[in-house]
Formats: sequence, C-alpha cells, structure tokens
Amino acid sequence: MSALSVESLYKVFGKGAHQAVDDLKAGVPREELPNRVTAAVIDHNWEIATGETFVVMGLSGSGKSTLIRMLNGLIEPTAGSIWIDGVDLRSLSKKGVRELRRDKVSMVFQHFALLPHRNVLENVAFGLEIRKLPGDERMDRAREAVEMVGLGDEQDKLPAQLSGGMRQRVGLARALAADTEFLLMDEAFSALDPLIRQEMQDQLLELQAKLAKTIVFITHDLNEAMKIGDRIAICDGVVKQLGTAEEILKHPADDYVADFIADVDRSRVLTAEAVMEPVGSDTETRGLETVESGVTVNDLYGTVVASDQPLLVVNEWNEPLGVVTPRAIIKSLAPETASDAQEPQRA
Ligand SMILES: Nc1ncnc2c1ncn2[C@@H]1O[C@H](COP(=O)(O)OP(=O)(O)OP(=O)(O)O)[C@@H](O)[C@H]1O
Ligand SMILES: [Mg+2]
Repeated sequence: MSALSVESLYKVFGKGAHQAVDDLKAGVPREELPNRVTAAVIDHNWEIATGETFVVMGLSGSGKSTLIRMLNGLIEPTAGSIWIDGVDLRSLSKKGVRELRRDKVSMVFQHFALLPHRNVLENVAFGLEIRKLPGDERMDRAREAVEMVGLGDEQDKLPAQLSGGMRQRVGLARALAADTEFLLMDEAFSALDPLIRQEMQDQLLELQAKLAKTIVFITHDLNEAMKIGDRIAICDGVVKQLGTAEEILKHPADDYVADFIADVDRSRVLTAEAVMEPVGSDTETRGLETVESGVTVNDLYGTVVASDQPLLVVNEWNEPLGVVTPRAIIKSLAPETASDAQEPQRA
C-alpha cells in the first residue's frame, strides 16, 4: 500500500468549477475555459511510498501550494481523491481532518510564524501544547527536535535574536517534534540565502536518512528538487513529467520539461552509473582504476576528462558494472532536447 496517493485529482477555483472539470475531462484545453475559473491542479495521479521524498516542482502559479493544501485537508478538491495511509480524505469529518493534521501530517512553510515572546524551545514545544501532551514530555521532545536541527545552543533565544536560517530551523524542529509520519514542506527553504539554503538541504537529507518520513517537498528550484527528491513531479497544472532526477534529465518528456532542465547543473545530478557504458565481452577492463557507481559526474570530471582515462564503475561489492569514458562524460553534460531524446525510438 502506498503511503499517500491521489487519483484524478482536480482543483479549480471560481464559479462553475465543476463544469470546468467536466470540460477538462472531455478534452477542452485549459486556455479555453472561461476566465472566471482558474484550474490550479489538473488530473494528478500518483502515489508515494513510505519514507519517500517526493518533490513537486513548477513555476509560480503552477498549483503547488494548492496541491499541498489539499493534501493536508485545508481545502477540498473539486474532483478526485486523496488517500493518506489508506484513508480516503473525503471520508473524514471536520474533526477527522483536524486530527489528521495533528497526528499524521505536519507542515513547514516558507515564512514560519514563530511566537515572538517565546524562546526557541517554547516555540518548538508549542505544537505539542495544542496536542495536550504533559509538560515534561513536551519539553523533552522539543529539546530533542531542537538538537536534531542543530539549534541546541540557541534554545533560549527569542525569534528576533535568530537569523533567517535559524528561524527556518525552528519551523522544521516544530514539525519534527510533532513526530508525524508525513511532512509537507512548501518552499520551506526558498527564502534563505544560497549557502544557508544548501546547509538546510544537507540537513534535511541527513535527517531523512535517519527518520525516513514520507515527505512532499515543494520548490520552484530544480537544482534543489534534484538534490532532495527521490522522485520529482514537474507540474504546470497537470503533471508534465514524474520520475527520478536522472530519468528527467536523460529523457525529458516534452519541450516544456526540456526547457525547464536546460539550466540544471547536470554534473551534480548524474552519477557514474547513469553515464557508464555496459561492460561487453570485448571491453578491456584490466588495469582500469575503479569508481563507485554513486559518484557524481562532477566528482569524476577531473580524473576522467583531465587524464583522458576511462574508469571502471563498480558496485559496493566491487563487481564491475560498466565503464565511464571521457566522451560519455562530456556527452552527459550537454543538455538534451526532448526531440533528441526521442530520436532513437523513431529510428
Ligand atoms: N483561493 C484561491 N482562489 C482563487 N484562485 C486561487 C486561490 N488559490 C490559488 N489560486 C490560483 O491558483 C493558481 C495556482 O496557485 P498556487 O498558489 O497553487 O501556485 P504555486 O505553484 O504555489 O505558486 P507559487 O510558486 O507562486 O507559490 C494561481 O493561478 C492562483 O492565482
Ligand atoms: Mg506556492
């Protein structure tokens, strides 16, 4: 069973929303819908597994926040269904949805509203207060979460005494203290300086390796998406493409996606395994230096291209998987257009 899934999910704003969904289902293009309606989420169908980090990415107005608000029951879909842990959100009463938000699903926003007169620890504990946990347990759990995000030394400070990155960490700690299975993050790092942002991304990856939450992470930054996501959905109302970073980079579904990925630093996403050529019976592998399959092209570039030497890609048991050549590395760094990608199939 998937942890979270959506089926034929639509959200249309404005008068005549249901008619608009019927029209969309009948094949009317979005541009031809009446002006009074906005189709924010169109026919989403996907499921995510427990422990997966699923990234939803798209330009401003592509329906990302609308989607996440439906996932935690803040707004109702116009059509379609959402299943969380096997429960159809439509079957829940108002109280049921509130309980879902309290016990199962935590949110982290771009600008997290911290209480100005409470210190870091108290702000983190606040979410647990609402859940009526006893004081001691509340503080213990808050302390643990504050440690997890690296704010142990700052726990007595007030929000005004914190940097933007620290404040965002408090928001993350508050969500972690709630200890819910699901974490919904809407542009949680987008307001941060690039360096702090990278630190937060690394920290999330580290935490996720330990905690294995089921995360829906929203961003409009494709490099961030590719760094954080197990899989990525590129959205523009509809889901344009859903896949791993590698799948999307290597086989963009259409020109929209191809344009989108043109600026990505491919060298940090593609791995040795992604760019290697398989070992054939006539491949000479003796004497080649080895490299592990997960090493990125960025880290390989120096050795392979500068020394003009192929490397043997091996798995964790040192078994040969393939060979990376300088040519393959250079080729992998050139952005591929959607039509290029399709050529082999047409031929
Ligand atoms: N409550 C609402 N009423 C009417 N239209 C809305 C409402 N909420 C969102 N929209 C519209 O739906 C579309 C999608 O908005 P949404 O906030 O989901 O986009 P987004 O992808 O989160 O964008 P951003 O990256 O700017 O946060 C937009 O055209 C927006 O104007
Ligand atoms: Mg948004």
